Amino acid sequence: MSNLFTIEHARALDRDDPLGRFRQEFVINDPSMVYLDGNSLGRLPLRAAGHMEDAIRKQWGEDLIRSWNKQWYTQSARLGKKIAQIIGAEPHEVIVSDSTSVNLYKLAYGALRLQEGRTEIISDDMNFPSDLYIMQGLIKQLGGKHTLRLLNSPDGISTDMKELGSMLGNNTALLTLSHVAYKSSYLYDMERVSELAHQHGALVLWDLSHSVGAVPVNLNMAKVDLAVGCTYKYLNGGPGSPAFLYVKQELQERLENPIQGWFGEQNPFDFHLSYKESKGIRKFLAGTPPVISLSGLEPALEMILEAGMGAIRQKSVALSKYLLTLTQKYLMGEGVRVGSPDNADRRGSHISLKHAEAYRICKALNDPEVGDGVVIPDFREPNNIRLGLTPLYTSYEDIFRAVRQMKEIIGGELYENYSQIRDQVT
Ligand SMILES: Cc1ncc(COP(=O)(O)O)c(C=O)c1O
Repeated sequence: MSNLFTIEHARALDRDDPLGRFRQEFVINDPSMVYLDGNSLGRLPLRAAGHMEDAIRKQWGEDLIRSWNKQWYTQSARLGKKIAQIIGAEPHEVIVSDSTSVNLYKLAYGALRLQEGRTEIISDDMNFPSDLYIMQGLIKQLGGKHTLRLLNSPDGISTDMKELGSMLGNNTALLTLSHVAYKSSYLYDMERVSELAHQHGALVLWDLSHSVGAVPVNLNMAKVDLAVGCTYKYLNGGPGSPAFLYVKQELQERLENPIQGWFGEQNPFDFHLSYKESKGIRKFLAGTPPVISLSGLEPALEMILEAGMGAIRQKSVALSKYLLTLTQKYLMGEGVRVGSPDNADRRGSHISLKHAEAYRICKALNDPEVGDGVVIPDFREPNNIRLGLTPLYTSYEDIFRAVRQMKEIIGGELYENYSQIRDQVT
């Protein structure tokens, strides 16, 4: 075997990669660019581009309104069924609609209404801010009787299960957490946490945005009540592609949707003047779905199903171990710290590296003055360089080249040539 710390070694790992063939299924016009931001926006699958072209030119351009009956009306549920296979749910428990934030709002509202008499919502301080904003807004709208309590992470990397257990009690209405933390990549033990919540009579609502398509998820096995997640990260659905929601079968009838739009009505084309909710998961829809955006998602999901979550996870763990080995050798002496869990079992599919100059390092990686190409990670305040590993298209060579470039930028203090002023989107 070649020396671990050479590009030849990385290339040998790529040649042996059982998922290697999927890379050519994505649009990669600049092979010198290393893209490590699939945890924010997945690459464009070639098949998705073809489907979207068909949706625009044929379905919209030629078939026009007739497309609703041909394929558009059932699209949200059809895609939900595919996502259900990826997250271990029954086909009728998942539907695609709205954004993650809106879906979180709908399900959290339903959960709090079901849990009348209990007034506590528990989350953690590593959760995505939008999730916490939604809870804060709901508390206002429901008259201010609820409180949101956050489990504190001592190091910003992980949380303590025992402490979580001690926060739950018979006043806890809802426990809502991100399955994988957006900054540190900490991966909760979904089964254990859900069980803990249920022991106290609380409902559990997971945000799967950073885990769906990246780590195996089995909602039914973990006895999860409610979940939401986005489709533009590891599912490669495209910018702003709609999110999904999951409501376990037993809760579907009792859980109220606060946004009673016509797409959730039993017979929307009867145009009744008073709302009667649909049976089943459709009742959590609100209005007309963004059809064109949804059309790219279907082939993207099929690709994940073809590859299989087992193989995806295996490669994700191998990529992250490789990245950490190179980080240890080349970057730890340069003021870099690892901001993700050491244990691969407790880690999602991205790694955060911390450095006091993280922002300017990211700028230099994006717009290099040296080296052999652009490297795209993303930056998360205050000092995280976040490196997303998407097993369907991230190669070992990508990782080798990204670390080599970081070493050059940090070692030579080349970030000094870049501005500290934050871009609008980081
Ligand atoms: C964990 C998590 N939850 C929620 C959101 C918000 O998603 P949306 O913009 O679809 O509402 C994001 C966005 O990146 C996220 O990472």
